[in-house]
Amino acid sequence: MRILVTGGCGFIGSQFVRDALERGHEVVNVDKLTYAGNPANVADVADDPRYTFVHADIADHGAVRPAMEGVDAVVNMAAESHVDRSILDPAAFPMTDVVGTAVMLGAARDAGVARFLQVSTDEVYGSIPRGAFKETDPLTPSSPYSASKAGGDLQVLAYGHTYGMDVVITRGSNTFGPRQYPEKLIPLFVTNALEDQKLPVYGDGMQIRDWIHVTDHCSGIFAALENGETGEVYNVGGGHEATNLHITEQILALTGKDDRLVTHVADRPGHDRRYALDTTKLRGLGWAPKRTMDEALADTVAWYTDNREWWEPIKSGEYRAYYDTQYGNR
Ligand code: NAD
Ligand code: TYD
Repeated sequence: MRILVTGGCGFIGSQFVRDALERGHEVVNVDKLTYAGNPANVADVADDPRYTFVHADIADHGAVRPAMEGVDAVVNMAAESHVDRSILDPAAFPMTDVVGTAVMLGAARDAGVARFLQVSTDEVYGSIPRGAFKETDPLTPSSPYSASKAGGDLQVLAYGHTYGMDVVITRGSNTFGPRQYPEKLIPLFVTNALEDQKLPVYGDGMQIRDWIHVTDHCSGIFAALENGETGEVYNVGGGHEATNLHITEQILALTGKDDRLVTHVADRPGHDRRYALDTTKLRGLGWAPKRTMDEALADTVAWYTDNREWWEPIKSGEYRAYYDTQYGNR
């Protein structure tokens, strides 16, 4: 297939681009290169003749429509993706995650693209005290980020319903691994620990997330892309539930640091307490996550330990201003 991926210079996108090429596909990567988009994430494939990069905003129809020529499938992964940034400065979120998704759908429809896969998140369901969300559960998002992602999902389903487009949605759980921008919990705490900086735990740290390694998330997207039924939603969860404090203790142990680095700071406004996904439906397509949490987290910590040249420049740039605003008075 010739796959148009958006957000391929980000964390999950760059893994997906690499995996798609390994699976024998051609890839067109459309990325705006926001603060989270890093060409270094795909530097190893940049010279592959089957790979094309298009520097564009997904909300710009004139820029994305020509990139759709000859494309068999769109995998729309570009997003403003961070809850804390959506609380500090929400404006970009509906622009990319809702309007951008609608523009991509319109361009794919004009170009006659056979399948449109939307990469979404478990956060559209909101928080669940016990049990696990099924694809049929209502959307009750709580943050400007998750509300924008839910708006994107509704656009996708509406285009399927109204225009008969072949659309599929995946909803992934909290993802970790190499090349994740160090504003999310795991890369932030690993890199802070490596620099002997504080690990700022929000509130009591007993919030629960359902963790999945990035390669398992990507194989779930491929399962839905290749074998998913049209108009359907598929949860992609690792099933590795852990409190934030437990993850923090594991990171301290893996980096050889002690718990004096841990500092409890003011909780996130509207903080979702727990996420969990029922993945029966995607498993019905033959998919299962392969990585165990302990081994994948150790592997991830080793990657950040060995690749300081990837994250040190990030942490000294624009990031500093963000960090001071987010954590300065917390
Ligand atoms: P990321 O922030 O690392 O990367 C986002 C990429 O999108 C960047 O390369 C950025 O430059 C690009 N981008 C942003 N706005 C754009 C625009 N308007 N036009 C073109 N490109 C734009 O994000 P990620 O963590 O890799 O997440 C990828 C997708 O997976 C997102 O849709 C996110 O909602 C979803 N998701 C992420 C997680 C997670 O834990 N990281 C979990 C579930 C779902
Ligand atoms: P995050 O990685 O931002 O993902 P999400 O909010 O999409 O789940 O956060 C994961 C969890 O870690 C969440 O409960 C918030 C918490 N957290 C902290 O306690 N401290 C931090 O500095 C960050 C970034 C997150």
